[in-house]
Amino acid sequence: MENKIEEIRKIFLEFFNKKKHKIIKESSLIPYNDSSLLFTNAGMNQFKEYFLGYKKSPYSKIVTIQKCIRIGGKHNDFQNVGFTNRHHTFFEMLGNFSFGDYFKKKAIFYAWELLTDSKWFNLKKKKIFITVYYKDIETYNIWNKIIGIPKKNLILIEDKKNQKYNSDNFWQMSETGPCGPSTEIFYDLGDHLKGDIKNNLGNRFIEIWNIVFIQFNKTLNGELIPLIMKSVDTGMGLERITSILEGVDSNYKIYFFKNIIQEIANLIKIKNLEHNSLKVIADHIRSTIYLIAEGIIPSNEKRGYILRKIIRRAVNHGRILGEKKPFFYQLVKVYIKYINNNEKNFLNKKINLITNIIKNEEEKFNQIIYSGIILLNKELKKSGNNYLTGKQIFYLYDTFGLSLDLIQNICINKKISINKEEFVNYMEIQRQKSKKKNLFNNKNNFYYKNNISKFNGYKNFTTYSKVLDIYIDKTSKNKINLEEQGEIILDITTFYGESGGQKGDIGYLEKDKKNIFQVYDTKKQGNIIIHIGKMILGSLQKNDYLHANIDILHRMMISKNHSATHLLHAVLRKKFGTYVKQKGSLITDKYLRFDFILNNSLKLDDISYIEKKINGYIFENIPIKIDTEEKKEIKNKKNIIALFENKYSSFVRIVNIKKISQELCGGTHVENTGKISLFIITKFLNIANGIKRIHAITHNIALKYIQKQNKNIKYISSLFNTNEDYLIQNILLYKKKFSLLKQNFKELQQYFLLKEESILFKNKILLKDINIIISKIYDINPIFFNVILKKILKKLNKVIIILSTKWGKKIFFIIKTTKNINNKINILDVMKRNLDKNVCNINGCANIVKGSIDLTIDQYYFILSKIRTFILDKVNKLN
Ligand code: SER
Repeated sequence: MENKIEEIRKIFLEFFNKKKHKIIKESSLIPYNDSSLLFTNAGMNQFKEYFLGYKKSPYSKIVTIQKCIRIGGKHNDFQNVGFTNRHHTFFEMLGNFSFGDYFKKKAIFYAWELLTDSKWFNLKKKKIFITVYYKDIETYNIWNKIIGIPKKNLILIEDKKNQKYNSDNFWQMSETGPCGPSTEIFYDLGDHLKGDIKNNLGNRFIEIWNIVFIQFNKTLNGELIPLIMKSVDTGMGLERITSILEGVDSNYKIYFFKNIIQEIANLIKIKNLEHNSLKVIADHIRSTIYLIAEGIIPSNEKRGYILRKIIRRAVNHGRILGEKKPFFYQLVKVYIKYINNNEKNFLNKKINLITNIIKNEEEKFNQIIYSGIILLNKELKKSGNNYLTGKQIFYLYDTFGLSLDLIQNICINKKISINKEEFVNYMEIQRQKSKKKNLFNNKNNFYYKNNISKFNGYKNFTTYSKVLDIYIDKTSKNKINLEEQGEIILDITTFYGESGGQKGDIGYLEKDKKNIFQVYDTKKQGNIIIHIGKMILGSLQKNDYLHANIDILHRMMISKNHSATHLLHAVLRKKFGTYVKQKGSLITDKYLRFDFILNNSLKLDDISYIEKKINGYIFENIPIKIDTEEKKEIKNKKNIIALFENKYSSFVRIVNIKKISQELCGGTHVENTGKISLFIITKFLNIANGIKRIHAITHNIALKYIQKQNKNIKYISSLFNTNEDYLIQNILLYKKKFSLLKQNFKELQQYFLLKEESILFKNKILLKDINIIISKIYDINPIFFNVILKKILKKLNKVIIILSTKWGKKIFFIIKTTKNINNKINILDVMKRNLDKNVCNINGCANIVKGSIDLTIDQYYFILSKIRTFILDKVNKLN
């Protein structure tokens, strides 16, 4: 068998390039500015705006090879990955695209030629089967009448259970967005295998290529809005076509995966190369590596959570194979061994970071698993029978991340049966809950029509605009009335919609001074800018003209923080090297937060240095210029920091702080560094291995912060009776004195206890072989009672003790009897009989009672002597 994967990549690009398709770089795995998707799941994602007609593609025909992640959601069932021959969390997609250029006929011709022509892939025509959307007769006829596919190899696929457009042959990018009917090409591996194309069952037929005719935009309420331009989006799984051309019957048997699986088996020392857990691990290391390379860190939120789930599933499968120590991280270098040079260069730069993050996560998860297994054993002991309920399994799964497979494995070894069905029910309930939550979280994203809002707020703070649409409760309305909350879309606006880490503007939309909509947030979705707020005066209607006024102070603070973020980025790179890179940022009117890759730890001196440097730039009042350049112009300018390198667009905006920083950025900035006024770092944290976070503030917020700190220092100095210059010295001195005092106090305490012990022993009464000890009333903290008690109980084994102290305004006491007296004298009973409930507060049981009393010492002495007589009397009567 020959390794064909690289050759296939080359041939695919070459074939479509010959057909005048422009070869375009793939996009990032994290979709830019598109909240309808967590990860890039198809080659077409980066072209969404072209398909929808929001932007014009500079090329009408494009070809790409795109890395994709599919985990859960519309297109993949995570739990199946590793257990089928073809599913992956990470794979590469070969795709050709037409934007208003060719349509059905040519798309089908191209695919047929590449697959079957002897110059290209040379597959046997007879082995090819085709599915077509049941209403797409035109496509059916092209395959049948023009290409010559016999009817027995052509299968019509209907909608699922009468749900319109819910069909394997109606492709949708996600809940919303571009979609259309598709035709899929299958390859027959032979009748020795079982398979059913129509119901997508068995291993006989492999789906290799999906050709989608993009014709609609789907909105959240299920409406399909026809697109003006008809386009083509195709996708062929690289691993699948490789399996066919390498002549194997599973993706996991291609040369590339075979090597990786062999290496994992060597590492874990297992012999059975067919074990599904090996496939799971081989698949998951790829998605893990690329997600971390894209800056995702395992966490409990969104993408980070998914990454965590992938790593944990791999670790769980490692355990199934018997590996209990961290191992997954070692596969980073293994994977890099088997990829092409381009990828090698890309990943080698990040190999330490990726390896460390995985190792850290594995170690943490192993700790959790350890606690989970202890709990599992406890649960079993508790229930007493060798059986785990679905609820118990779900708890272990949900709280400790133990996978069902792992729990099952442990249970089989211990001969414990489990209620899997009940567990599956719990899982389903959780799935439904999180589905609802997701829709809710994304409620801002899906229901807008295809409007376009123009942003003209870089220099202007107010503009005259037309109301294009009004949304109340996700529904488009003609009017918004007083007190109603809603979202307004304008044709042109000065409001910046939240993006690139910069928070949206706030302000007012105002018509004739009598109708005012207060905007308390602005978001961006594709090409529309959404003003979110409430009608606080009058009403507004569609097509009204109004003034859109942003809150200038709010914007100014955001702009200061944004420019300060660029300075911070530049200073960090200058100090620690250009490998330092932004990994996330939040810019609000109150503060900025900046996450970045840095291997060193940040020290207090580094923080002072960074602050000093940035404030130096602020004092120099350096102009901040914005340039717009054609993207190809800046390709070779290495000093420009581009955070979204893969985003495909012809013009870019460069924020230029002379000689200090050049960054591609769409956000708002101040005109010169002087406007930032002051920069102070308030926090610095280590948020993951190799990733640091800085919080900082600027301008008057920084001033207020310094003033507050200053005031606190002055106040603390006065408490220490010193001036600020000597404050630290004084605190250190106090600390020293304090530890000395603590030491002295301990010694005194020992001395006191020794003395007290001998006094108590001297005064004890021995009556009927019972020792009765009643202390004087001390003035010590009642917490010492326990120490005194312990000392006495060590030496005497049949004893009644009463200790009392006056502490604060109360008298505290404790009475203790050794267990051997309990059934003879019930202390709680004795106390209840002798104490007035109104003045005392007691709790305890038959052999120990604690309490406090609101009485004078004399009154308490009186009661104590009563108790003493009572006890002596009781003891005397014992026989
Ligand atoms: N978007 C389609 C798919 O992912 C074709 O590329 O299958």
